[in-house]
Amino acid sequence: MPFDLRDIPLDPKAEAALAARGLEYRVVDPGDRAALEAWVAADRRGFHENRADDAELAREVSVFADRRVHGVYDPTLDAPEIPVATVASWPTGLSVPGGRSVDGWAVSSVTVAPTHRRRGVARALMEGELQNAVAAGAALAMLTASEATLYERYGFAPAARAATVEVARRRVEWVAPLEPGRVQFVAPEVMRTAAASIARRAVARTPGEIDRWPGLLDRMLGTHAPDSERSRSIRVARYDDRHDQPQGFVVFRVRHDPGDADNDDRSVLEFDFLAAATDEAERALWRFLTEHDLIGRVRGRLRSVDEPLPWLIADRRAITVSDVVDHLWLRILDPVAALEARRYSGSGSLVLDIDDRQGYAAGRFEIEFSAKGHAEVHRAESAPADASARAARRSRPTQGLGLRLGVAELGAIYLGDVAPSLLARAGRVVETTPGSLAVADRLFSSPRAPHLSIWF
Ligand SMILES: CC(C)(COP(=O)(O)OP(=O)(O)OC[C@H]1O[C@@H](n2cnc3c(N)ncnc32)[C@H](O)[C@@H]1OP(=O)(O)O)[C@@H](O)C(=O)NCCC(=O)NCCS
Repeated sequence: MPFDLRDIPLDPKAEAALAARGLEYRVVDPGDRAALEAWVAADRRGFHENRADDAELAREVSVFADRRVHGVYDPTLDAPEIPVATVASWPTGLSVPGGRSVDGWAVSSVTVAPTHRRRGVARALMEGELQNAVAAGAALAMLTASEATLYERYGFAPAARAATVEVARRRVEWVAPLEPGRVQFVAPEVMRTAAASIARRAVARTPGEIDRWPGLLDRMLGTHAPDSERSRSIRVARYDDRHDQPQGFVVFRVRHDPGDADNDDRSVLEFDFLAAATDEAERALWRFLTEHDLIGRVRGRLRSVDEPLPWLIADRRAITVSDVVDHLWLRILDPVAALEARRYSGSGSLVLDIDDRQGYAAGRFEIEFSAKGHAEVHRAESAPADASARAARRSRPTQGLGLRLGVAELGAIYLGDVAPSLLARAGRVVETTPGSLAVADRLFSSPRAPHLSIWF
């Protein structure tokens, strides 16, 4: 999607809805440093974060200068330059099953000041973002959510999970064979270049991951503020394969929980960034992490619900999985582009009758799946505009195998995180012909569990 993000016109509906509340909806000019700094201040306040120091502010301003940044302003306030609501968005790839990527629209920094909440401001912003995504040609919109009850009303659904994985270090006995490469410590600034290419390859092989941006890697590695307390606590280790090619890295720190000072078990090795371009690198880095002395527990955040770790050590009960969260939320906007982007598990045909209150994805879609798992999707019918015509279409039988489902349910099954038959058990998907669910379960399943390992 090569274009200037500022060329997308301001959504007139969102603008009118906010104007009716006496508020101004604006796109922040990335060249206006003062406006961007005021916007960053509002964004941080919205998430109850500290004010940024100079290094953090410089990093955030440069990240948001590459995004489409909207602010909502109340001209009656004493400080009218600080927005009362924020949202930022950008076009980015989302990895899908089959090793490819689909054009997505990431939405982030959704905040509304407590002084202006519950009067429809977030709704106006989110409806505006769906319009922006369509204008940008995205097949879907995506976000990570602070609460699970916020976004389904706009057609989003949880599509990839993440979990905290904790290992009781002293119980670890490694049973997998040694990897042929080696792990070494590297300085964060040395890691910076290789990190981008490893992260790109790790993202490509994991459905549910989104493209990384430079400011994210800087924050992970602490390279934007090397002297900060957080950066000084960071250690970086890299795995090189037998040909000395970097294939993975982990960024971690050791925390000392309060308690008995003589007890090593109070020390926790924590990481929230382990990127592996190969399975070999992933195994080697887990081994490195779990074979530290003076450490009681190893804790990885936002890990996959499908880690190979239990199969690498003798005592799988040394592992605790907690905080399993609905991490990536998707909103399909263009079912043809979205469905054709991924690969499927086998051949067949299906008809999907999709309901979508907001209209974008509504209609009947006929899909042919080839033996190689490619899908050819044909929009047989758009959504009828009025409710009685929609009901009539719903009751009309389809030919062949098919499902009737809402756009949120389509988002939930899209990456293979949940089987259509489970949603049918929940009464949220209906098969139009007996046998359709079994076929849909097979086709939509993903060999690798979808997983998103960052917040955005
Ligand atoms: C969550 C937040 C953005 C909502 O903003 P808001 O302007 O008060 O929301 P709106 O008034 O536009 O409400 C839109 C809809 O969401 C619902 N809603 C809003 N906040 C909600 C909450 N915390 N839980 C459940 N529903 C909520 C409203 O009831 C409304 O429903 P309806 O339109 O279907 O009747 C705001 O409270 C906030 O900034 N929270 C802190 C930061 C945050 O968590 N942001 C989300 C990041 S993912």
